Amino acid sequence: MTARAIKLTVNGTAYERTVEPRLLLADFLRGTLGLTGTHVGCEHGVCGACTVLVDGDSMRSCLLFALQLDGASIETVESLGTLNNLNPLQEAFREHHALQCGFCTPGMLMTATDLLRKYPLATDEQIREGLSGNLCRCTGYENIVKAVRAAVTARNAP
Ligand code: FES
Ligand code: FES
Repeated sequence: MTARAIKLTVNGTAYERTVEPRLLLADFLRGTLGLTGTHVGCEHGVCGACTVLVDGDSMRSCLLFALQLDGASIETVESLGTLNNLNPLQEAFREHHALQCGFCTPGMLMTATDLLRKYPLATDEQIREGLSGNLCRCTGYENIVKAVRAAVTARNAP
């Protein structure tokens, strides 16, 4: 196969690029678009560090080819907030010390964003289940669950 043109939206901005068939979405985001917030850890679908939202669903960007995203709308961690204006979920991670090295954090944040939009997350077990596809080598997960719990509380506030 030869390179092909794709059109897609990333964080609300429309892009048109020509990509090689073997180019992974993770490498497209990081290398082609310069959106290096998305991290690449295991490169085979295990760690969740590369998680982004594709048409509203969390997916592993290391397991998708950029070509497959023709016409799709993608959200990456860069869509959430900025250093000086964290969104409520990022603020909860900061407040509850839910990161140490930070390598897993973009994937955790995007998975949690998906969970917060779709599910009640009434119990910590549901939060743990929802985050079970994202690995963290540092925190022991306790503070990540606390942070997502705080974000659920903020979401549910009248
Ligand atoms: S880098 Fe994609 S799941 Fe680990
Ligand atoms: S904070 Fe280091 S891997 Fe999660």
